[in-house]
This record gives sequence, structure tokens and C-alpha cells, in this order.
Amino acid sequence: MSRIFELIDKLEKDRILLKEEFSEIISGHTSETDEYLFAKARTVRERVYGKDVYIRGLIEFTNYCKNDCLYCGIRRSAKNAERYRLTEEQIMDCCEMGYGLGFRTFVLQGGEDGFYTDDKIVSIVSRIKAKYPDCAVTLSIGEKSRDSYEKFRKAGADRYLLRHETANPEHYGKLHPKGLTLENRMRCLSDLKELGFQTGCGFMVGSPYQTAENLAEDLLYISKLQPQMVGIGPFIPHHDTPFANEKAGTLETVLLMLGLTRLVVPNVLLPATTALGTIHPKGREKGILAGANVVMPNLSPSDVRKKYLLYDNKICTGDEAAECIACLGRRMESIGYRLVSDRGDFKE
Ligand code: SAM
Ligand code: FES
Repeated sequence: MSRIFELIDKLEKDRILLKEEFSEIISGHTSETDEYLFAKARTVRERVYGKDVYIRGLIEFTNYCKNDCLYCGIRRSAKNAERYRLTEEQIMDCCEMGYGLGFRTFVLQGGEDGFYTDDKIVSIVSRIKAKYPDCAVTLSIGEKSRDSYEKFRKAGADRYLLRHETANPEHYGKLHPKGLTLENRMRCLSDLKELGFQTGCGFMVGSPYQTAENLAEDLLYISKLQPQMVGIGPFIPHHDTPFANEKAGTLETVLLMLGLTRLVVPNVLLPATTALGTIHPKGREKGILAGANVVMPNLSPSDVRKKYLLYDNKICTGDEAAECIACLGRRMESIGYRLVSDRGDFKE
């Protein structure tokens, strides 16, 4: 076991390990080595961001999707999903409410929905930026051409979230239908970075067929890309997908990957995800204590929340945004952290 402690020390110093070394930690970690890792992750994070936890207002504006990712509850073939789209006015209303609650980042997330042409997205982004010049806009709307990304950037979008899902091409093939490739996903991510977006990649922990080696490959990819954000949460099965009977990812492995990611990219913006709060009642608090520094409460209108169901038993679908923020504020205070009303940009 002392070997794992040594590897964690080495990672803290060098910010990178060999693939075999990452795999060794992932296969051999224990609750003692985890505590050792998390203490280092907290120190590194607090050096850059203190005890501040940034909030992002998540606006889930469409659950139509042309894709058919095998894990996803809003995939094209999920015939029972009740589909919805928010109008530009509804999106602006979400921002207005969010702004009043202290949000200074709005995340527009949705399925890959052709209804929202580039022009529509440009119009929405421009309107939000014109009305709230002190706020950041993040897009999370999937794989697009470099040209489209450039238009979004010129319209004022600051950040883009596009999880790579897995850095191993064979594993990627087992999670996605033919036609979706890791190569294109990675092309998107490098375009986004080059265009000056604060860029977020990320992956699910415990997705079907995932190995310790795959997780090591995720860390190597993160180290190479040097993203500003990394979204990591457990895979959770959705009843209306081919993975309905698969097991969910575990709390322990998600926390481990958060801690390791913090040491690989010390300044990274790292959310304690809603999915993590779904698999454990204290999941988000534990995520922060393992090195995360962002939470992403939902700002979508309450009547559509239950329809953006990527996985089963998703939490907070019945609450108003104001209740969520108060609840998260109390949760963060209970562990000695505080939610801040701030854009929460990446710090160099
Ligand atoms: N369409 C955009 C995209 O593909 O990036 C954004 C929406 S997509 C639903 C956002 C993320 O949800 C995906 O990147 C995936 O990692 C996550 N997700 C989908 N299904 C999930 C599940 N069953 N459990 C946990 N996370 C899931
Ligand atoms: Fe498109 Fe999940 S398959 S958002």
C-alpha cells in the first residue's frame, strides 16, 4: 500500500504518471490512500480558489436529440421521453430569475436538436450577453463544426462543455452507435480550445465495459488537453435505454477520479455533479471534499425538469431554483465552504 502513497506524492509533484501507475492507483486504492489523496487535492484547490464554491445555473433548454448514445435517457430511441423545447423568452426568464438569485454563469445544455440552428443559438447567446454583460455563458450542445463554434464564440459564448465520455476508441464504440466517433469528439474539443473557449471535457465513471485502464487513459487525455473544466459523474442507468440493467458507477471511484483530476490540472474547475448527489445523499459534499469546486443547480422551469431525465432517480427535479440554492448553500456551509456569486472563471 505504501506504493500507492508514493504514487500520489509523485503525481502531486509531476502532475502526471504513466498509464500503468494511474491504473495501479485506480485498482489498488483504499480508504486510507483516498484520504491522503483528498487532503492533497483540497490543499491544491484551496491554494488557487480558497474555500469558494462557484455556482452555475443550468438551463436544460431541449430534450430532443438526433443522437442515440446507448446510456442516455433522452436518446432518439427513448420512445417514452416526453419531448420539450424552451422558447427564447423562456430561456431569458430563466436567466432573469437566476440573476436575481446570484448566478453569474448560465449553462445552456440540450440534446443535439436541429431546431436550434446556429442563428438561433447566436441570437440567444447575444441576448443573454447584452442583458447580463457581467455573466458568463456556457454552451453544452454537442458536436458541431468548427465554423459553428466560431459563430458561437463571436456571439459572446465564454465556455463550452463537451465530455469526451471515454478516451479509448474501442470503449467509445461500445457506448455509442456507429457514426459517432471519439476522433470527432476530440476534434471538437481541440477546436473549442483553439477558439478561446474555456473548455470542459469529462467522462462517466462506471459506464458499461469501463476498465481501470480506461480511467487511466481519461487522465492521460485530460493531461494532454489541459482543459479548464472537467465534468465527472457516475454513470446511472436509465430504464428506457439498452443499459437499463447495468450497474451504476460507485461513489468511491467518482471521488477518486475527482481527486486525481485535481492533481493533474491543479487550477481546473471541477463540478460535484447532480449525478453524484443522486447516488449518495452527501455525494456533492463529498465531491467538494475530494477536490471539486463547482456545483450546477438547475434553473430550468419546474414543469420541464422531470422531462430532462438522462438517468433514473435524478434529484432536485421537484424543487424551485431558489430552494436548490438555499439547500446547496447550507450543504456547503456544513463542510466549511461557501457558495459565491461570481462568474468563477478559470484562474491561470
Ligand atoms: N448533447 C450534449 C452532449 O452530448 O454533450 C449535452 C447533453 S448530454 C445529455 C450531457 C452529458 O450527460 C453527457 O456528456 C453524459 O456524460 C451525461 N449522461 C448522459 N446519460 C447519462 C447517464 N445515464 N448517467 C450519467 N450521465 C449521463
Ligand atoms: Fe443526445 Fe443524450 S443522446 S443528449
